[in-house]
Amino acid sequence: MSTKKLSIQRYLPEQEATPYWQEFEVPFDDSTSLLDALNYVKEELDGTLSYRWSCRMAICGSCGVMVNGIPKLGCKSFLRDYPDTLKISALSHFPVEKDLIVDMEVFLDHLAAVQPYLITNAAETDEPNRQTPAQLEKYKQFSDCINCGLCYSACPQFGLNQEFLGPAALTLAHRYNLDSRDQGKQQRMPQLNRHEGVWSCTFVGFCSQVCPKNVDPAAAVNQGKVESAKDMLISLFKG
Ligand code: SF4
Ligand code: FES
Repeated sequence: MSTKKLSIQRYLPEQEATPYWQEFEVPFDDSTSLLDALNYVKEELDGTLSYRWSCRMAICGSCGVMVNGIPKLGCKSFLRDYPDTLKISALSHFPVEKDLIVDMEVFLDHLAAVQPYLITNAAETDEPNRQTPAQLEKYKQFSDCINCGLCYSACPQFGLNQEFLGPAALTLAHRYNLDSRDQGKQQRMPQLNRHEGVWSCTFVGFCSQVCPKNVDPAAAVNQGKVESAKDMLISLFKG
C-alpha cells in the first residue's frame, strides 16, 4: 500500500507556549479519507492526538480542520486528492483547545442569537402546518447547513472581529425569515441590521467556496442585505 505524510499541528495551550508540527506516515488507497488517516495515527502511532468526529458521512459537522490552509471536513476529504504531504491544523479563527480541537462557543452563541426556530403567532393546534413545494424551495438550500463552522474559518471579517454574526448564523436567520410558517422576521431583523450583522460582510465569498453542503452562505448574506435595507427604510418612514 502507498503512503503519504501528514504534518499535523500539535498544541496544548495550557502546557506549551507555541504550536509545533509533527509528521506521521500513513498508508492510503483511493478510499482513505483524512479522517481515516487521523484515526490511523491515533490508533497506531500516537494515541495522544486529539480531534473531533462522529458521523463519518458529512452530517454531524464536527470533523472540520485546515488542510493545506483550506477549511475542510476530514471525512469528506480524501488523501488521493492531495500531494505527498498534507498539512493539517485546527480550524482558523477559533481558539485551540488541544491539537485539532477548537472552542466553538462564539459560533454557537451567534447561531442562537438569530433565534433559529419557527416563531409563530398562530394558536397551538394538532393540525399539520402545510407548505407547498414552492414555499419549501425558497429556503431549502439554506436549511442544509450542518453547523460545521468551515465558513467562519474562511471568513476574513470573522477573523478580524469575532462579534460579526458570520455566514452560517446570517444564513440561518435568512432561512427562517423565508419560511412561510414563520412570523419571527421582525424579531430577527435587529440582529441583521446591526453593524456586526449583514453589513460587516465584504462579500469575499470564500465561505460559499468552502461550504461542504453547497449552502451558499454568501448568497444568503447578500439577500439579507437587501432585506435589511428594506427594513431600515420602512423604519425611517414609520418614524
Ligand atoms: S454554511 Fe456551510 S460551511 Fe457554514 S456552517 Fe453551514 S454547512 Fe458549514
Ligand atoms: S465526521 Fe461528521 S461531518 Fe465528518
